[in-house]
Amino acid sequence: MQTACRLTGFGEKPPALSVENVAALEPRPGAVVVRMLAAPINPADLNVIEGTYGELPSLPSTIGNEGVGVVERVGASVGEFFVGQTVLPLAFGTWAEQMLVPVEALVALPEGLDPLQAAMLGVNPATAWRMIHDFANLQPGDWIVQNAANSGVGRAVIQLAKVLGIRTLNVVRRGELIEDLRASGGDVVVTEDVDLRLEARDLCGANFPKLGLNAVGGASALNLANALCAGAPLVTYGAMGRQPLKIPNGLLIFKNISFQGFWLRRWKESAPLADVRAMYEKLAGYLAAGVLHTPVHKVFPLDQVVEAVAEAAMERRSGKVLLRM
Ligand SMILES: NC(=O)c1ccc[n+]([C@@H]2O[C@H](COP(=O)([O-])OP(=O)(O)OC[C@H]3O[C@@H](n4cnc5c(N)ncnc54)[C@H](OP(=O)(O)O)[C@@H]3O)[C@@H](O)[C@H]2O)c1
Repeated sequence: MQTACRLTGFGEKPPALSVENVAALEPRPGAVVVRMLAAPINPADLNVIEGTYGELPSLPSTIGNEGVGVVERVGASVGEFFVGQTVLPLAFGTWAEQMLVPVEALVALPEGLDPLQAAMLGVNPATAWRMIHDFANLQPGDWIVQNAANSGVGRAVIQLAKVLGIRTLNVVRRGELIEDLRASGGDVVVTEDVDLRLEARDLCGANFPKLGLNAVGGASALNLANALCAGAPLVTYGAMGRQPLKIPNGLLIFKNISFQGFWLRRWKESAPLADVRAMYEKLAGYLAAGVLHTPVHKVFPLDQVVEAVAEAAMERRSGKVLLRM
């Protein structure tokens, strides 16, 4: 037997989550059984539990969007994968002791990574990496403007931009985060009440940002759009403020700002497997080198998943909530 966190209903209060004994998994050709080590609780997981995420599993379902584990048993024809290897399963259902994962959804990781940090490599650093590379031809010295800068994605944007020589103008909703984010590499950090339409020129030394990254929506997104140079994209990838975008006509007519969206799952489904693995190899290198680091707020055992989810849903956390299996 093994244990897994099962969701049996959407939008229930308290959440319809339970940790159940389920059958131990058997390997099959082309797939391995992964013993999970750790998995974070991300906003996307909370949205799945609420039933508001863009794509929902059929219930009941083992949930969890990312995590890290070790190959425990292998089926036939699994290529280079071997028992004992640390892997990222790029598959749904990570909140469990075991997962059955086809090799095309597996990424091999170097040994020696902190399992909590490795468990958070699959989604947020990858999202940051793709958004930095796929929407604007950024060169060293260029600026990115982003909100929710203290989020997992926001911090990864700061850390990856730094290593690439790209500068970041970061917006947070809590002034007490400014010093910490500056110390973590944010070039400029301001609170939401700073009007970037008036201040961006001074803050960025007359170089308006070439890329905007929006995880909030509403007035916060408009503030970012107002900071951008003509022709730049504002990329929306999250909706933490739960407010729709409001786009003034002038930003389209006179500045030709483009409003685009990003979803990592869509990228992973369309990109060649070699490109997906090459990206994670690069990101794992940055993790090993200490370039990437995500603060941890609290770690719970899997059988306390209900408490862990409640903690992850709390405002003003100091980092990520994770499950350790
Ligand atoms: N599209 C994709 O492929 C993709 C991939 C990864 C993540 N995401 C999305 O990106 C967003 C961030 O994810 P994450 O895992 O990085 O988040 P996280 O680490 O859990 O942090 C959440 C952040 O949202 C901020 N926040 C919450 N409510 C807010 C509000 N009303 N106004 C302004 N800021 C608010 C928090 O501010 P404080 O720091 O002040 O608490 C915190 O910085 C989520 O919406 C997530 O679903 C999307």
